[in-house]
Amino acid sequence: MTQPYVIDQMISAKSIAARIEELSREIKDTFSDAEKLVVVGLLRGSFVFIADLVRELDMNVEVDFLEASSYGDSMESSREVRILKDLRGEIAGRDVLVVEDIVDTGFTLSHVTELLKTRKPKRLETIALLDKPTRRETEIKATWTGFEIPDEFVVGYGIDYAQRNRNLPYIGKVRFT
Ligand code: IMP
Ligand code: MG
Repeated sequence: MTQPYVIDQMISAKSIAARIEELSREIKDTFSDAEKLVVVGLLRGSFVFIADLVRELDMNVEVDFLEASSYGDSMESSREVRILKDLRGEIAGRDVLVVEDIVDTGFTLSHVTELLKTRKPKRLETIALLDKPTRRETEIKATWTGFEIPDEFVVGYGIDYAQRNRNLPYIGKVRFT
C-alpha cells in the first residue's frame, strides 16, 4: 500500500505532443539513410511515449520491446538491472532507437545500451521522455531528451507509482498528503 497522495500537473499533454513532433524531426534526420528503424520500447513505462512517437515517424519502423527490472513498487532504484523480457527480433547490423520513459540514476539505460551494443547494431541511439540530471549516478545521457525535470517523483503518460496512474494523459508530480 502507498500513503495517500495527490498529483500536480507538471507537463501538459499538449506540451508533450509538441515536443514529440520536434524530436521526431530530429530522429528522422539522424536516421534518414536507414532502410528501417527498430524502435525498442523499455517496458512498461515507455508504452504511451513509444505509441505517440512512432506515429510521428513517417519512415519504416519495426517496434520491439524489452523489459528490465529496477524499481519494483518502491520509489528508489535498486541499482541492479535484470532483463525480464528480451527482444523478439535481431538487431545485428540494424538501426536501433531505444525508448525510455525516464533517466534517473541512469543504471537502466546504461545497462540496456551496453547489452544491446554487444549484439552489434549498425547504429544505436536513445531517447528519453524525461531526464532528472541531478539524480544521475552513471555517465549516460540519452541522445534525445524530451524534458529535463527536477528531482520529483512523477507519474502519468505511461509512468507509474506502484502500478498506478499510467493512464493519466499528462505528467504530474506526486505530492503526499
Ligand atoms: P534509473 O535506472 O535509476 O535511471 O531508473 C529508470 C527507471 O526508474 C525509469 O525507467 C522508471 O521506470 C523509473 N523511474 C525513475 N524515476 C521515476 C519517477 O519519478 N516515477 C516513476 N518511475 C520512475
Ligand atoms: Mg522504466
